[in-house]
Amino acid sequence: MNKKKSRRKFIETGIKTGVALPFFTSSLFSCTSKTADQQADSSSTNQKLKILILGGTSFLGPHQIAYAMSRGHSITTFTRGKTQPSVYKKLFENVEQLIGDRNDNLTALHNRKWDAVIDNSGHKVEWTKKTAKLLKDNCALYLYTSSTGVFYPYLDNDIKEDTKLVLSEPAEMNEEQKLEYRYGVMKANSELEAIRQFGKDRTIIVRPTYMFGPADKTNRFIHWPIRLSQGGEILMPGKENDMVQYIDARDAAEWMIRLIEDKKTGTYNAAGPKEKQDIYEFVEEAKNAFEVKSTFVKIDDYNFLKENDIHYIVPWIMPTGENQGSAKVNNQKAKENGLTFRPLTESIKDTWDWWNSDAVSQAQRDKVGSDPKSVLALEKSIIEKWKKR
Ligand SMILES: NC(=O)c1ccc[n+]([C@@H]2O[C@H](COP(=O)([O-])OP(=O)(O)OC[C@H]3O[C@@H](n4cnc5c(N)ncnc54)[C@H](OP(=O)(O)O)[C@@H]3O)[C@@H](O)[C@H]2O)c1
Repeated sequence: MNKKKSRRKFIETGIKTGVALPFFTSSLFSCTSKTADQQADSSSTNQKLKILILGGTSFLGPHQIAYAMSRGHSITTFTRGKTQPSVYKKLFENVEQLIGDRNDNLTALHNRKWDAVIDNSGHKVEWTKKTAKLLKDNCALYLYTSSTGVFYPYLDNDIKEDTKLVLSEPAEMNEEQKLEYRYGVMKANSELEAIRQFGKDRTIIVRPTYMFGPADKTNRFIHWPIRLSQGGEILMPGKENDMVQYIDARDAAEWMIRLIEDKKTGTYNAAGPKEKQDIYEFVEEAKNAFEVKSTFVKIDDYNFLKENDIHYIVPWIMPTGENQGSAKVNNQKAKENGLTFRPLTESIKDTWDWWNSDAVSQAQRDKVGSDPKSVLALEKSIIEKWKKR
């Protein structure tokens, strides 16, 4: 893949999944997860809410649903019926599943009441405008799942909630540059539309950074679990002090439900880890998820990395140009308002177990394993080149 194409692929994956710019069967991943009642025993709250999720069947949604049901809430989803959940399948038997299309068919949402709406599938400003308008008199709260992409280009060193949003694509740009801006512009304007319809005091905006964890269909984060589970000599990209940010989708999902329970309206960045971390610290900590021996080859020359088509191995994204601050999102407000973080080793191990479970098709695993252009495939030769240079 040439550099342009690889860069474009990264942007497009980001757009599809969230951030502008990257045979172990546990009960979680198989079809036999705990029932809502079993889970509710441990952690249900007093208030039982009726929550509508626009979306809900892909990555973030099932984790929101599992947690919400474990706390005694009831869930309705609204989808086209195309995407089927790959985790917590059993739980979905107790989910009311409405069918429609955010493009042109919201009939199933008419004349219904919910305590809260979670808008996960907001991929057009118009979609959010229409659903928020339709639901504002019948629902108390609207939670819009946004993205840190609203801050693109990432030029600041401390991106707080009130940092300027990208509300329009600058004129005079080529198609690739427009693509980089488009997702953030859409998310930023969708946020405003949700607030316009529901009002500030009834809207929650959550902006996750790169999410990873079980059920992630992007293959964007699986490099590290695969590679660290194998051990040996491992390529570590970037310079010391190249910061990384990421969030386990379960931490984001569970926090969103608690924000709704506590009616904590407002706008929040959702970025982990809890404390600042650079790529070296990330890898050193993540490796402890596995009992194999690893040594790391630090490749800290950006030019060499670029020449070898390594612009990112998420969560590391080369912090240059528009991406210099992509891992500098401030999470103070989120932490003060209840965002918690499970240990990185747990996230890595769970992701690895999920990847090897029957929730993931062999075809999906093969796609990653057999990609001759991937860092996984090229690592050895790149390390050799680096040592010889
Ligand atoms: N992944 C990341 O790293 C990341 C980072 C930051 C923010 N985000 C944001 O997080 C959100 C959650 O994404 P997710 O995929 O995990 O959410 P999800 O709620 O688990 O799944 C997305 C849902 O949208 C539904 N959908 C798609 N097109 C639709 C349409 N035209 N009408 C009705 N429903 C439709 C899909 O079902 P059907 O196909 O059956 O319709 C699916 O249920 C997204 O807004 C994303 O931008 C993601």
